[in-house]
Amino acid sequence: MSLLPILRYPDQRLAKKAQAVAVVDEKIRRLVADMAETMYEAPGIGLAATQVDVHLQVVVIDISEDKNELRVFINPKIEEAEGSCEGEEGCLSVPGVYETVTRAERVTVRFQDLDGKEQVLKAEGLLAVCIQHETDHLNGKLFVQYLSQLKQSRIKAKLAKKARITA
Ligand code: NI
Repeated sequence: MSLLPILRYPDQRLAKKAQAVAVVDEKIRRLVADMAETMYEAPGIGLAATQVDVHLQVVVIDISEDKNELRVFINPKIEEAEGSCEGEEGCLSVPGVYETVTRAERVTVRFQDLDGKEQVLKAEGLLAVCIQHETDHLNGKLFVQYLSQLKQSRIKAKLAKKARITA
């Protein structure tokens, strides 16, 4: 396993749309293992392949306290979304920025597991929000795009300044 570099907003590669995974093979399983290691190391509760510059529909999530409940979503599709909830979100690609976003409260997601088997999951609360945040990444969308233009410009300026300092 190895740690993968995470793209930072406003890197244009974060805007790419991910391709569907045709076959869940060893290569995909290795990508998932590397993504999980990268997410835990960061640390974060979710990571989409887009964020590590791999443009395939693969997402890892672990919202558990003990970080021992890895969930893998290959080719996730949100089929139903109900209700709405507001919550503070952050993103490993937008470090240090936390903003309130409105999302559906419950979602039904269809996906493939690590064996390539089709699964359907009904999720609510934090897991539902996380699934929406990560599937957005696969569509080239970041949570900051739900914010006003003014806020987005401020965030860009803040991250550019930080990049200069750490470069
Ligand atoms: Ni994110």
